[in-house]
Amino acid sequence: MREYSIASIPADGIGPEVIAAGEVVLKSLEQRLGDVRFNFETFDWGSDHYKKHGVMMPADGLKTLKKFDAIYFGAVGAPDVPDHVTLWGLRLPICQGFDQYANVRPTKILPGITPPLRNCGPGDLDWVIIRENSEGEYAGAGGRVHRGLPEEVGTEVSIFTRVGVTRVMRYAFRLAQSRPRKLLTVVTKSNAQRHGMVMWDEIAAEVAQEFSDVTWDKMLVDAMTVRMTLKPQTLDTIVATNLHADVLSDLAGALAGSLGVAPTANIDPERRFPSMFEPIHGSAFDITGKGIANPVASFWTAAQMLDHLGEADASARLMKAVEQVTGAGVLTPDVGGTATTKEVTDAVVDAIHGSN
Ligand code: NAI
Ligand code: MG
Repeated sequence: MREYSIASIPADGIGPEVIAAGEVVLKSLEQRLGDVRFNFETFDWGSDHYKKHGVMMPADGLKTLKKFDAIYFGAVGAPDVPDHVTLWGLRLPICQGFDQYANVRPTKILPGITPPLRNCGPGDLDWVIIRENSEGEYAGAGGRVHRGLPEEVGTEVSIFTRVGVTRVMRYAFRLAQSRPRKLLTVVTKSNAQRHGMVMWDEIAAEVAQEFSDVTWDKMLVDAMTVRMTLKPQTLDTIVATNLHADVLSDLAGALAGSLGVAPTANIDPERRFPSMFEPIHGSAFDITGKGIANPVASFWTAAQMLDHLGEADASARLMKAVEQVTGAGVLTPDVGGTATTKEVTDAVVDAIHGSN
């Protein structure tokens, strides 16, 4: 029996709804496979914890999480707590504290889902975006002076280090190399931003020499939005800075049909710490408690978690079950259906049990 300890942090809004659904599906895989076990421990951290205790998670939160094999995360964000407090109080400290520097965001059009682009069917859009996840624009460097006065100044300083850029670039080239097309697009804004961004381009060219079988090209981030929309077939693996990839991956999710299907893995490639798996979407206050949150992103990120844990067979089974269910038209309203979270979850469980 292979056993894995998983820290669940459902947190806010629809987070608890989709993480509960993901646990049900992982438990059904456990039953179907028989030789693997997932031991979940749930932490009630998030905005409610903040309202009660003044912090999103306890001071020794990272120490508690460190002993787990993986972290399964919902979403943070509450209407009555500032977003920078929720994000910097829980999700970012985990990503940064555990040096999860590679944020891996696969996107493809799942069967049964109608994407918004007219000329784009399944197979035309099959990307993985690698987001630098430890520094860049979200390093947290900067400050505010003369608060509230007319001469107030706010700075938000991007930090790019040779170590930080090289390691994520290497991760991206390696991932591109492992995919059939061996194609990588490096995104920057090195025309307007002439220091850190130019360093990105230079480091990309250096790292490229280690991967002679990978074809790579460069795009400016603004032109990249056009290429993603008009020529999605020309892209495969994509690497970009923390901010750029954040924005591009929301676009990618939308182009694939909905944010509700888009997953993400925050990976420590050196495996010194647990990696964290989550849907890309936020806490979606507008649909919280209605039972209609799309659980597919949280299933897909669970599949990423299984891959990371070395359970490739379980991961493939899970994705096959998800694709069978979306293909059969069992879809939540965000992707044009009428099914509830529970109906989609039950259908995926049935598909797992029926799989051979
Ligand atoms: P959001 O992702 O929560 O929602 C955007 C839109 O997509 C909403 O209309 C929502 O109903 C829909 N949507 C999202 N996930 C869905 C799902 N699984 N099924 C069906 N529909 C879904 O982004 P928004 O509204 O900008 O932010 C809400 C809160 O979430 C804010 O506090 C924000 O800071 C936070 N947030 C947290 C993130 C995280 O924890 N990683 C990421 C993005 C936002
Ligand atoms: Mg985002």
